[in-house]
Amino acid sequence: MKNTKEQSWINLPSLGLSLKALFSSYLIVIGFGAILASAQLLMTHGMADGKLGLSIDDIVYSYHGDPNNSKIETKLNGSMKDKAPQEERIKIIKWARNGALETEWKGEIKNIFDTRCISCHSTIPGLPNFTQLSEVQAVAGHDNGVSTSTLARVSHIHIFAIAFIFFFNGLIFSLSIGINRLVKALVISLPFFCLIFDIFSWWLTKISPEFAWITMISGISYSILSAYTWVISMYQMWIMPRNGKKYTSNAWQD
Ligand code: HEC
Repeated sequence: MKNTKEQSWINLPSLGLSLKALFSSYLIVIGFGAILASAQLLMTHGMADGKLGLSIDDIVYSYHGDPNNSKIETKLNGSMKDKAPQEERIKIIKWARNGALETEWKGEIKNIFDTRCISCHSTIPGLPNFTQLSEVQAVAGHDNGVSTSTLARVSHIHIFAIAFIFFFNGLIFSLSIGINRLVKALVISLPFFCLIFDIFSWWLTKISPEFAWITMISGISYSILSAYTWVISMYQMWIMPRNGKKYTSNAWQD
């Protein structure tokens, strides 16, 4: 068993420079991605109820819809607020509340859409095309939240992409030392379960608004867990070795 001694350095502080460079570059890019994702979340879902900041209402409006308002009204008071001046937004909202009639569409209302909205809403795939009255009417009726097809698409992309992120985060963190082995196993596996709860709760919230808090709790939980593994991994790779001490435990045997 000549190898045992040499293998006993398998832990984050003792890694060679190339692996540390690989792991750290990955963590930095992922950290940057997380900041951008939070910003995007705040700007779309965060504004769903018209107020800045992510709340339970935002989650309800995004997935379940707002039965008292049309989607176009919710958006014009939320993420589309800056797309047209107040008086034009009010005109659209009044037209929508009046039943979004074709007879009242031609002329002023259509002009507002043509000048303010269709530069995006006829060119960006996935957005309703507002050169078609029928697509305007579809968002001018009762707001039923996110469509099942959108939810199905976003769900599976989200699961695959985020599971990969958690996998590599967990793999790096598994090399950390000085953390109780059960805590470590829990911190590594919990984000995956939060992810399942998160996705599942979107579908539940679409059906009934009471489930929005599961989205909130699971999202917050995996954000905190990921931030924790990120900080510990970086700390153990770059700060811990600086005292010149040799770390001889084998993190993969705990
Ligand atoms: C700069 C591009 C841009 C302009 C201009 C724009 N939108 Fe949007 N719109 C978007 C994007 C991106 C989304 C998807 C993100 C979101 O829901 O906030 C969206 C989403 C929407 C939705 C929700 C669609 C759905 O099916 O979920 C509505 C309704 C909407 N916009 C209305 C409008 C109206 C009305 C105007 C004009 C006053 C307008 N938008 C102008 C980019 C734009």
